[in-house]
Amino acid sequence: MTDQSKLIDRIRKEVEKKTTPKRYQHIQGVVQSAVWLAKKYGANEQSAEIAALLHDYAKNDSRQTLNHFIKDHNLQLDPILQHAHQLIHGKVAAVMAERDFGITDQEILLAIESHTTGRPGMSKLEQIIYLADFIEPERDYAAVHHLRKLAEEDLEKAVFTALNNTMIYVLRTKKLLHPSTLECRNQMLMENPSLAEI
Ligand SMILES: [Fe+2]
Ligand SMILES: [Fe+2]
Repeated sequence: MTDQSKLIDRIRKEVEKKTTPKRYQHIQGVVQSAVWLAKKYGANEQSAEIAALLHDYAKNDSRQTLNHFIKDHNLQLDPILQHAHQLIHGKVAAVMAERDFGITDQEILLAIESHTTGRPGMSKLEQIIYLADFIEPERDYAAVHHLRKLAEEDLEKAVFTALNNTMIYVLRTKKLLHPSTLECRNQMLMENPSLAEI
């Protein structure tokens, strides 16, 4: 067993302990989709597995636990993150990944952090984790089949569509829209205008 696969094994056990069975099932689905996407689009498969395993590491933590962690680690939250509790767990999980498993690979840490909001200039690995979260096999919502089909065809088109879907959902449900989601979506479209031709 290589050091890397030992680490992945240890992470998997800790994630299972720290999350609810339902959440862990979702995480396993994200791992499956992320490794598939990494293979398909030429990203590092082990990095994809680690980021996918840890992306929701803080999702089942109580609001109080998250608030303590943010205070203890002096994490700076922008105004939207301060208000939108459901978006904080990515940022917290990235810091926990370094603390609990010594992960220092910035691409992995960014992929964990940005999965809740997207980020302008997302790397391929970030895009893969962002998308895998939406298309993993446990997901069941109206647009998922279309998104899975796009994921088969073109990573960027699928990510762009997932960002658009998220924004539509956030506006429709009158939740706070994080500016990174909009900036990420706009930047992708400016760099690749053909994305609008879906
Ligand atoms: Fe999440
Ligand atoms: Fe997730």
